[in-house]
Amino acid sequence: MNPQDVQHVVVIGAGVMGHSIAQVFAQAGIEVRLVDLNEKILHRAIHLIGNNLNTLCELGRVQNDEIPGILGRIRPFLDLAPAASGVDFALEAVAEVPDIKRKVFSRLDEICSENTVLASNTSTLDIFDIVHVKRPERLLATHWFAPPHIIPLVEVAPGPHTSSEIVTFTAELMRRLGKKPVVMKQFVPSLIVNRIQNNISLAVWDILQNGWATPEEIDLAVKLSLGVRLPIVGVVQTVDFTGLDLVYDIMQNFGIENTIIREKVERGHLGAKSSRGMYDYGGRSEEEILKKRDTLYIKMLDHLENTTAFQPV
Ligand SMILES: NC(=O)c1ccc[n+]([C@@H]2O[C@H](COP(=O)([O-])OP(=O)(O)OC[C@H]3O[C@@H](n4cnc5c(N)ncnc54)[C@H](O)[C@@H]3O)[C@@H](O)[C@H]2O)c1
Repeated sequence: MNPQDVQHVVVIGAGVMGHSIAQVFAQAGIEVRLVDLNEKILHRAIHLIGNNLNTLCELGRVQNDEIPGILGRIRPFLDLAPAASGVDFALEAVAEVPDIKRKVFSRLDEICSENTVLASNTSTLDIFDIVHVKRPERLLATHWFAPPHIIPLVEVAPGPHTSSEIVTFTAELMRRLGKKPVVMKQFVPSLIVNRIQNNISLAVWDILQNGWATPEEIDLAVKLSLGVRLPIVGVVQTVDFTGLDLVYDIMQNFGIENTIIREKVERGHLGAKSSRGMYDYGGRSEEEILKKRDTLYIKMLDHLENTTAFQPV
């Protein structure tokens, strides 16, 4: 199936993620069936979507006269059977509890046609180990970020049996929704961003529990350093500006043998100073690379200061 032909999807779970994911599909003109366990949750989900759309409208991201049509494309359901019947794409966003996920996919497997793509929004579970479906080539992970109606990234990851056609189809569908998918070679629990975020969280709780800094001090320290650099150089390219030779020495001091960095250092690929490191700068001089970096950092800093981003929300 062509992603442009997708007309009906089901989103199971109308909580923090599900309500907003349903909104994204509806904004792209797709009919969404939104499933949860009781009327109160569904009512709240629709209310939150209305609120989200009003905010987007105030910011010029959605036109006021589009809102009734978007809301009209979202139908709440208590029963999975009628909701999942005949859909092209089913997205699970229920609680992060293996047994709940297992039951939801088992029912989807009974209800959906064999052509329906089955996707999980799990953050940390190995969905391919937990869930057993008749056609595992149609099962994959699509991991969204809160709030899905604003954050562009969706991580797309295939399990051991997912077909490459389904991965391509899903990435294209995410693009149709206006999202920016990053497709992993293979699924690993926590995918890319949560693997990194989990390590940050462990460090944060360590600092807090030891009383080394307050929540406000930690956030300000991070915003005033990584917060300025991250949007420009991410978490990998940044080492090209540290210098790979220094990073190698630091890792050695930690007792870690990093073969990726060692090989680069041995070849003289030290980062911006040698026009090649984790990235290839195509022969540009260090001065040119640093000028571009600094220009972007200053623009980012100005933007963050102008939007009072260094203060708490
Ligand atoms: N919250 C986040 O920032 C975030 C980000 C990315 C991924 N995720 C993942 O998305 C999933 C959902 O997270 P959330 O934060 O939206 O959770 P949530 O608790 O806000 O929402 C989950 C919803 O699923 C419903 N539910 C539970 N069992 C159900 C069933 N059998 N049928 C239908 N609905 C059912 C619950 O009633 C609840 O409304 C989890 O796997 C989580 O790891 C969460």
